[in-house]
Amino acid sequence: EIKRRWLAFFESKDHVVVPSASLISEDPSLLFTVAGMVPFIPYMTGLVPAPYGRATSVQKCVRTLDIEEVGKTTRHGTFFQMNGNFSFGDYFKKEAIAYAWEFLTKSQDEGGLGLPKERLWVTVFKDDDESISIWREVSDIPLQRIQKRGMKDNYWSTGQPGPAGPCSEIYYDRGPEYGRDGGPIADEERYLEVWNLVFMQFERGAGSGKSDFPILGELPAKNIDTGLGLERMAAILQGVDNIYEIDTTKIILDRAVDLTGIKLYVRVKSSGGSCTAVDTSSGANNLTASISCPTGINEVDANISGLNVQPNPMTNGAVINFNTAKAAMYTLRVTDITGKEVLFKEIEARTGENKIAMERNNLTAGIYFVQLNDGKFSVTKKFT
Ligand code: GLY
Repeated sequence: EIKRRWLAFFESKDHVVVPSASLISEDPSLLFTVAGMVPFIPYMTGLVPAPYGRATSVQKCVRTLDIEEVGKTTRHGTFFQMNGNFSFGDYFKKEAIAYAWEFLTKSQDEGGLGLPKERLWVTVFKDDDESISIWREVSDIPLQRIQKRGMKDNYWSTGQPGPAGPCSEIYYDRGPEYGRDGGPIADEERYLEVWNLVFMQFERGAGSGKSDFPILGELPAKNIDTGLGLERMAAILQGVDNIYEIDTTKIILDRAVDLTGIKLYVRVKSSGGSCTAVDTSSGANNLTASISCPTGINEVDANISGLNVQPNPMTNGAVINFNTAKAAMYTLRVTDITGKEVLFKEIEARTGENKIAMERNNLTAGIYFVQLNDGKFSVTKKFT
């Protein structure tokens, strides 16, 4: 439905609807299609005359640039689809910004996505005051919700020589339960980037990373290249915490749960350092456990809950409490902040409440992690 609305909206703005190109890139210098703009690179560099001035697509992508983020956040996937609108020397910043605001905020009855305006934040490249003026002119976003960022965040290219340009990104505020106040510059889990508007007007040279490359000059024309993450938008509209639990992906996880008989899925909500683990395989919030707080998804054994560690200054150790749904052998592993193991023990846990004293281990002051594992999954708790 998001795809359908997207294509219909941009078609109504005179864009040619172009089908997704192959995930295997036709560009010999790129293994995968890393963004919606990849099939259109020759039009932007001027190598091939663009057959149309405006195009829109929903492109299958593998984002090799961000691959190290997958599994650490709630918003990166190995595969995703990018909704894009493109201009090849046709419209530029003003229309791109106006279209984005209109599509996001127009009511669903009128064909938009109906997002509440007060949830939206925007970033622009640090030197790009022009975009700030345009945002103020074509939308009613207040100045306090527009932030400036540098090359790493607000200058986009495929990661190799070719078209490049400053960008303006649109973020959705998921609320204080997802992280700190302060806009995208403060917390990108709470403020979820949904749409990147790239003002493709330069050609970049060779270099590494997201900012270490020369700008060689201007492209023959000023182009627009935008990308809205389909799965991220689905997560927002479907009210789920991460891109793995949207309808099209959850069905695969549910099937895996059916086939294995293992209730394995727990989502982690992080707020100010404390976490709640919620058993989502049953659809009910019936498992609560304090566990360590990387943002993202943790697989934990739903049989273990309520892991709690109380440092015991008298013995220089700690008391570890937890509950299990079944009597079984568990391993208990304590590591320091560098990952060095300070304790390893096998525990025969009984059903219900278990209490283990970890004494006289001469722990110096610092941060430790207690991990309980049943051979398949583990629950981890940080303590100081
Ligand atoms: N081409 C813009 C993006 O992929 O973010």
